[in-house]
Amino acid sequence: MEIVIVADGAAVAARAAQIMAWAIRAVPQPVIGVATGSSPLGIYRELAAQVRAGELDVSNVTAFALDEYIGLAPSHPESYHHVIDETVTKQLGLDPARVHVPNGHISDILTSGDDYERAIVAAGGIDIQLLGIGANGHIGFNEPASSFASRTRMKTLAPQTREDNARFFGSIEEVPVHCITQGLGTILDAGQLLLVAQGESKADAVAAMIEGPVASMCPASALQLHRFATVVIDEAAASKLQ
Ligand code: F6R
Repeated sequence: MEIVIVADGAAVAARAAQIMAWAIRAVPQPVIGVATGSSPLGIYRELAAQVRAGELDVSNVTAFALDEYIGLAPSHPESYHHVIDETVTKQLGLDPARVHVPNGHISDILTSGDDYERAIVAAGGIDIQLLGIGANGHIGFNEPASSFASRTRMKTLAPQTREDNARFFGSIEEVPVHCITQGLGTILDAGQLLLVAQGESKADAVAAMIEGPVASMCPASALQLHRFATVVIDEAAASKLQ
């Protein structure tokens, strides 16, 4: 695992965007994995600026989101369909037909995980997967005790994750209880992993991911098993590393 410690959130976004851009330029048909939440927003802004400046061609990019809430209509402002559309697809000017988000419709839930896995394989696999980390060590919505072999499936959100994400909703009661997420096995299949974290609230999780044992109670510790994982963090998120 390569650890890159930079001064602040702006520097995290700049360095991670550079790594994403390299990966996009490296292959003719790039397949990127994208995350929602606050952590990657600066990266998407940086990439969008590169596209506008004519420095980055994203016309052949295919994207797969990590996860989706179950029970929110795709038009709901906090559904990840909507969030990815606003922060990634429109901002970077991706072809919407090439942007995939897991189907969180409850009536499809028994098949939507396998459908998503097949779509990733049909696209040739994910070249670079961008990840944030939850304060409890989750990646995607793989909460503590998730199997390292897991594939895209339905999960229950941990109470802490619902509390953390209540800031996007009116109240914690409005945060869905269930989600569909790429599994840890799915994430580990990507050619490259790029995890970003900013701020002291992530420091414990970052230390457990990098210096703790590989353990399902810290799902992000799965990155220790990947042969090409890069972690870009600011000094506050790195503050509990030994
Ligand atoms: C989002 C996701 C989550 C977030 C994590 C951190 O698609 O899968 O794992 O990356 O909860 O969220 P933020 O960046 O909002 O702190």
